[in-house]
Amino acid sequence: MSQRYRVAVLGATGLVGRTMIEVLAEQQFPVEELIPLASERSAGQKITFQDKEYATQVPSAEVFGKVDIALFSAGGSVSKEWAPIAAREGAVVIDNSSAFRMEPNVPLVVPEVNAETIFSTDGKPASIIANPNCSTIQMVVVLKPLHDKYTIKRVVVSTYQSVTGKGKKGLEALEEEIAGKAQEKFEHVHPIAYNVVPHIDVFLGNDYTKEEMKMVNETQKILNQPDLKVSPTTVRVPVYGGHAESVNIEFEHDFEVDDVRKLLAQSPGILVNDHPGENVYPMPIECYGKDDVFVGRIRRDYWHPKTINMWIVADNLRKGAATNAVQIANCLIGKLTPKALV
Ligand SMILES: NC(=O)c1ccc[n+]([C@@H]2O[C@H](COP(=O)([O-])OP(=O)(O)OC[C@H]3O[C@@H](n4cnc5c(N)ncnc54)[C@H](OP(=O)(O)O)[C@@H]3O)[C@@H](O)[C@H]2O)c1
Repeated sequence: MSQRYRVAVLGATGLVGRTMIEVLAEQQFPVEELIPLASERSAGQKITFQDKEYATQVPSAEVFGKVDIALFSAGGSVSKEWAPIAAREGAVVIDNSSAFRMEPNVPLVVPEVNAETIFSTDGKPASIIANPNCSTIQMVVVLKPLHDKYTIKRVVVSTYQSVTGKGKKGLEALEEEIAGKAQEKFEHVHPIAYNVVPHIDVFLGNDYTKEEMKMVNETQKILNQPDLKVSPTTVRVPVYGGHAESVNIEFEHDFEVDDVRKLLAQSPGILVNDHPGENVYPMPIECYGKDDVFVGRIRRDYWHPKTINMWIVADNLRKGAATNAVQIANCLIGKLTPKALV
């Protein structure tokens, strides 16, 4: 009998949750039943999936008792409250928030990089699996093959992050500001329309933001390189389609730029789009709705021969969140017995 799973999406009415449901359908994930979950505000709201309508419910231990795989995208505090309950009820939780990412026993997974960490030595999946931060995911997909071949010493990254990274509120804030209807500043700090804001999440004691330190700590964990030097500046820009990153990577070993291009083009999850003479390079407007990580503007650092510059773009709602989570769920197929068959 083929294995089909009861899949809950907590945050089903949000930007990431809705995209998760789209990706589950597109990839024909073997869903026996979809269980959309959100807050009281959305209870009863109908969600159509594979021609069937499902009513949105609020999370409860009883609901998780029948769930095999739970995709969480409702924020850190909701994850902290409900992930341990869902796990106790026997669901495998794939969590999009930052709540558990740095817990030593929780795998932090980008399937192209470290899918093997999902399972313990006895072949069982972890009960909570963390999906990394969106800006980290698209960067590590590119760093992994480069590190394996040339050994990375240091990465300097500046991000250009879409307002969709702030969820429904981010999108609405930009639209209201452009229409002159905004009641308050974007994230209560500065306007985002016609602006560029070098400030995402709160400042920590070291003058870096929480978003920046996520890029440092999560990259080290995913690549299993606790000493890797990552120097980030994260910036919010008034665009919809995805996050862009200017990345400067210093290697231990020599490289040829053409070999780097070929290596990336052959690596999973990456599309190289690098024809500067024809004005071709990745841009959020073209990456929107796509699952790949796009790379262009590949060139040797002007001053440092063992260092390379590149431009990396991905749809943060897709590879930065929903697609990555569904890819993790795909790794469970055939290795997780649905409760209905136990
Ligand atoms: N946006 C991105 O690019 C991105 C990327 C990676 C990770 N993430 C993470 O994914 C999560 C969701 O992001 P998003 O952009 O989808 O946000 P969003 O558009 O604001 O959606 C939030 C979702 O969470 C639900 N929710 C809020 N409070 C809840 C509660 N107390 N109980 C149950 N459900 C609740 C909302 O339900 P209602 O509609 O009922 O309010 C909605 O479905 C966050 O942890 C975020 O950090 C986002």
